[in-house]
Amino acid sequence: MEIIIKPTVAEAQQETAKILRRQIQSKPDSVLGLATGSTPIAVYAELVAMHQRGELDFSRVATFNLDEYVGLPADHPCSYREFMREHLFSKVNIPPQNIHFPDGRATDVPTHCAEYETAIVRAGGIDLQLLGIGREGHIGFNEPSSSLASRTRIKTLTPQTIKDNAKCFGSPDKVPHHVITMGVGTIMDTRQCLLLATGEAKAEAVARMAEGPITADLPASILQMHPVCKLVVDEAAAAQLKRSEYYRWVYDNKPDWQRV
Ligand code: GLP
Repeated sequence: MEIIIKPTVAEAQQETAKILRRQIQSKPDSVLGLATGSTPIAVYAELVAMHQRGELDFSRVATFNLDEYVGLPADHPCSYREFMREHLFSKVNIPPQNIHFPDGRATDVPTHCAEYETAIVRAGGIDLQLLGIGREGHIGFNEPSSSLASRTRIKTLTPQTIKDNAKCFGSPDKVPHHVITMGVGTIMDTRQCLLLATGEAKAEAVARMAEGPITADLPASILQMHPVCKLVVDEAAAAQLKRSEYYRWVYDNKPDWQRV
């Protein structure tokens, strides 16, 4: 895992956006896996700015989002489809038919989940998967105890995640308890993972993920087994990393051709 520690949240967000820009520029028909949450909002804003400056063309890009709440209509203000529309899709030129989400209103959930997996394969697989991390170490909505080989399926949120995600809904009792999420195995099949974590609330999960044992108790820890995984953090999220000096050394010694 390549661990990139940036002094500020803004610099971590910019680095993440630059890695995405490089991906899209080097492969204009990239298949991107996208994440929601408060962490990537500024990354999407950067991508929009890059697009407006003429640096990024999304016309051949395809996207698959990680997860969606069960039971919310697509246009619900707190649905992840609406989140992505607001922050990215309404502002760049991704063809609507190239945008994919798990359908939180599917009537036959197992069949829908299998179809989502098939759609990813038909698109050629995900080139780059953007990720955040939950306070308890989830990726997508793969909560602690998720099978590390899991595929897209329905999951039940933990009370902590419900509390963390209550803001949009106004109160925790309005947050759906169920979600459809790509599985840990689905995420592990992507060609590259890019996880952005910022703020001290994520410091423990980040340290356990990067330096702790691989365990279903912290699903993000499986990313230690991903062949091409970048972790971008600010100082606050890096605070509990034991080997942070080494990670900085690696970054400072990176050859120019590897920089974004
Ligand atoms: C959300 C999403 C995850 C996200 C995580 C962190 O609920 N399902 O994909 O990475 O939780 O969210 P935030 O960035 O708001 O801390």
